[in-house]
Amino acid sequence: MNHNDLMLFKQKFRPFFEAVKTSGFCREFAAKKYRHSVQVLQIGQEIAARDETLRKEQAPFFALGEKALLFHDVGRFMEIRKMYEDNFFADHNAWFSKHYDHGEMSWQMMKNESEFNDPRILAALKHHGHMMEKFYADPEFQNITDAEIRRQTLAILLWVRDADKLANFYIQRYEDNLKKDPFFVTMSEETRRAPVSAEAYGQFAAGRVILTSTIRSYCDRLLCCLSWVYDINYRASFQICAEHGYFDMLLELLAEYNRDRTLQQEIACLVHDRLMRKTA
Ligand SMILES: [Fe+2]
Repeated sequence: MNHNDLMLFKQKFRPFFEAVKTSGFCREFAAKKYRHSVQVLQIGQEIAARDETLRKEQAPFFALGEKALLFHDVGRFMEIRKMYEDNFFADHNAWFSKHYDHGEMSWQMMKNESEFNDPRILAALKHHGHMMEKFYADPEFQNITDAEIRRQTLAILLWVRDADKLANFYIQRYEDNLKKDPFFVTMSEETRRAPVSAEAYGQFAAGRVILTSTIRSYCDRLLCCLSWVYDINYRASFQICAEHGYFDMLLELLAEYNRDRTLQQEIACLVHDRLMRKTA
């Protein structure tokens, strides 16, 4: 881990943390996002060490990629301060409708830092949580003329997207399950008990990641996490998921709330099929 990067990361974190620390909820959330960032870097390193494609990259690629891994969510601190100022943090609807784009905020916070002003880092900061179409449509990155830099920009973005998802799975599995998630905690009992929505399942069955804006229930939220099986890119990432049983964990959580046994079976089949093909 690059010491200077970690120092800079702490420097970025501190003023935002100070600004929200009177709220226990925001304080916890910010601290959780800090831990998540370090974990994304560590898991990213594990993926790179194991993946046959990533292992072929050279040192400068890893130096840029590790910056992108650690700083991808730095905009979360700005988002949490905004939530605090706007008093949105206790409002469950705020979790559904996503008032702020933290990827955009990460990009904003780092684009003028001399060592970060590189599309290979900035694309991952801005687009790690977006649908890929948004990245492909962004002129800032599509106008890169050097084909090698364009290739590396995409490779780093996909790497960060994988590490980000795996770090979230890790927390859900070993540290804090989804029931301690702010999204769950602030949810009404009715939302908690609501079935999978037709819209969410439609996207899942079509092999697409479920759009956050279509999530209507806790089951949808779990199915959305399961739909990440369509948005994991490197082979080593699939292997790590299989070894830790992340998708089985999510299927078990879903089974607890989803009373439609047939649907549950269909979802489990789709997930296992995909995992089998990607780890074979
Ligand atoms: Fe993020």
